[in-house]
Amino acid sequence: MKIITFANHKGGVGKTTTVANIGYALAHHQKKRILMIDMDPQTNLTSHFGIYERPQDTMYEVLKGNSTISNAIVELSPSLHLLPSSLDVTNIEAELQGITGREFILREALDKVQGYEAILIDTPPSLGVLTVNAFTASTDVCIVVQTEFFALQGLAKLYEIIGIVQKRTNPKLAISGVIATMFDRRKGMHCEALQALEARFANELFDVQVTEAIALVEAASAGKSIFEYKPSSKVAEQYDEIAKAIAIKILN
Ligand SMILES: Nc1ncnc2c1ncn2[C@@H]1O[C@H](COP(=O)(O)OP(=O)(O)OP(=O)(O)O)[C@@H](O)[C@H]1O
Ligand SMILES: [Mg+2]
Repeated sequence: MKIITFANHKGGVGKTTTVANIGYALAHHQKKRILMIDMDPQTNLTSHFGIYERPQDTMYEVLKGNSTISNAIVELSPSLHLLPSSLDVTNIEAELQGITGREFILREALDKVQGYEAILIDTPPSLGVLTVNAFTASTDVCIVVQTEFFALQGLAKLYEIIGIVQKRTNPKLAISGVIATMFDRRKGMHCEALQALEARFANELFDVQVTEAIALVEAASAGKSIFEYKPSSKVAEQYDEIAKAIAIKILN
């Protein structure tokens, strides 16, 4: 079972949108059994699937040891499940302060989870205890990066944290993919950023980019994946291609 964290501590680069749509495509088009985990107190992944009211059990209860992952899971379809987040996950950083082994809480909770071909974890735009828990529990990282001028420079800190995790809590963690988002071919700056990403991540960068598309914003606010909201769109095709590449490259 592969556990893939989608990360970038920069906010608004498309992490949540990517997890939601790749999760859907892997489950429904690649016929994989998928669990998506929302680690972000902003609960964007949770609301992306139309869950607006706080479920009784969420990531908060799991991290506090007051519930189990199987209790908290929401079955969106037979093959696509979601572990929702909640606003009170904001307090976790403070509440876990000084607790020994706090980096391992998610990994331990996932120990008992079976029956999925992949678990996809959406992380908040920070490199605190939540993201470190995700890295510690994962087999792979996919970096989600916007094709803008400073895209590459911004990744230095992310690399540093992944390096520390590899050294201290999870030596097997691999950076397996880089997904370029919000790409606009007509903008020179975007093309330069893409070239820089191609040079830096020759093996990791997926061939297909996700272009800038308002349909993704609309789909999220409708509580749907792009495949349900606008299946004929270019971005639906792009996310489908990236999901296929993940199935071949990471899940096999
Ligand atoms: N390819 C795209 N084209 C246009 N808008 C997009 C695209 N991808 C995502 N968006 C929109 O941009 C905003 C930020 O995307 P998203 O929430 O996925 O980023 P994020 O990295 O998860 O943000 P955060 O760091 O706050 O969790 C959202 O409104 C989303 O609908
Ligand atoms: Mg997000």
